[in-house]
Amino acid sequence: MITTSDIKINKIAKSRVTDYDVNDVPFGKCFSDHMFVAEYFDGKWQTSTISPYGDVPQSYAMSSLHYGQAIFEGMKAYKNDKGEVSLFRPLENFKRLNKSAIRMCMPEVPEEIFMGGLLELLKLDSAWVPTSDSGSLYIRPFLIATDEAIGVKPSESYKFIIITCPAGKYYSEPIKVIVETDYFRAVHGGVGFVKAAGNYGRSLYPTKLAQQKGYQQVIWTDSATHHFVEESGTMNLMFVLGDTLLTPALSDTILAGITRDSVLALARDSGMKVEERKVSLLEVAEAYKNGQLNEAFGCGTAATIAQIVGIGFEGKDFVLPPVADRKFSTKVDETLRLIRKGKVEDKFNWMLKV
Ligand SMILES: Cc1ncc(COP(=O)(O)O)c(C=O)c1O
Repeated sequence: MITTSDIKINKIAKSRVTDYDVNDVPFGKCFSDHMFVAEYFDGKWQTSTISPYGDVPQSYAMSSLHYGQAIFEGMKAYKNDKGEVSLFRPLENFKRLNKSAIRMCMPEVPEEIFMGGLLELLKLDSAWVPTSDSGSLYIRPFLIATDEAIGVKPSESYKFIIITCPAGKYYSEPIKVIVETDYFRAVHGGVGFVKAAGNYGRSLYPTKLAQQKGYQQVIWTDSATHHFVEESGTMNLMFVLGDTLLTPALSDTILAGITRDSVLALARDSGMKVEERKVSLLEVAEAYKNGQLNEAFGCGTAATIAQIVGIGFEGKDFVLPPVADRKFSTKVDETLRLIRKGKVEDKFNWMLKV
C-alpha cells in the first residue's frame, strides 16, 4: 500500500466544506476539497499526488477524448453515528476497474495506488461525507489516456484520478421504465461488461427518447433478438416473480454490479429462492398477466434500489404493485443501508474502515 510518504500532498489552504450543506446537495455537482492523481508514462506508474480539486491543463489532442480510452468506477463511503468513515466493498471496484483496463488496452492500476490513494483522500476529506440516513460520499475513480497525439492506437501515457462528491438519494420517487427494442446498450463481443465511458455516451439518445415519452429509464434488451431483458439504465435489473428473485445471468453484455452481487447474497442468506438466467420479455409479460410480477427494481451504487412501478412494453404499461407491498426489495434496501451505516452486523465483511 502506498502511504502518505509516497503521495505528494498539497493541502487546500482553507476547506470549502462550510460553503455547503453536505446533507443536501444535488448529485454530482459539488466536489470535495481534494483529488488524487497518479501518472503513468515510460511504461510504469510514476508519481501520485493529492492536491486541491480543480481544473488541470490538458491538450485538446488528448487521446481519450478522440478514441475513447476512458474507463471509470462508481463507489461510496458512509459515515456512522460515531463519525467514522467506511467504504462499501472497495476491492470489488478495484478489480472491476482493472477488468475494464485490460479490455480497453490500458495499464492496470496497482492495488497500492488505487487503495492507498483512496484511503488518503478520504482521510483528508472525511468532513465531506454526509451524516444523513440516505447520504454518502460518491467516489469516482477513473483512468484516461493522455497522449497528445492524433492516431488510433493505445496511448502510452495515462492518468488515474479520484474525485468525490457528497450524494443524497438518486431517485426521489419510484420510476417508470420502457422496454427498448430499437436500440441496444451492448453487443456480444463488445464492452458491455466493463465500465467504458462510451457505453454511457451511446445510451443517452435512447434514454432521451424514453424520457420524452414519460419514462425515466429504458430496459435494455439483447441486441440479437430484443427478446431478453439485460439491464435498466445504469442499473442491474431484478424481478420478484411469485416468491423467486429473478435476474438476468451475467454475460459479456451485462455489467457485473456490486450492488447486484450484494442483493443476491442477502437474498440467498435469507433463504429466498434466487435464479440467475436468461429472462425473456414473454416470461415477464406472462407473469404480469397472471398476477405473479410482484416486484421489479433496478440496483446500482448511485440509487441502491430503484423501485420500478411501471414498465412500458408494446404500447401498454404494466402497472406494478405499490412499493409499500414489496417485502423483499424494501427489506434488502434497508438492510444494505443499515450495514453501510454500521447499524447492524456486517456479516459478509463488506465494509472497510478508512
Ligand atoms: C451499466 C451498469 N449496470 C449496472 C450498474 C450497477 O453496478 P454497481 O452496483 O457496481 O454500481 C452500473 C453502475 O455502475 C452500470 O453503469
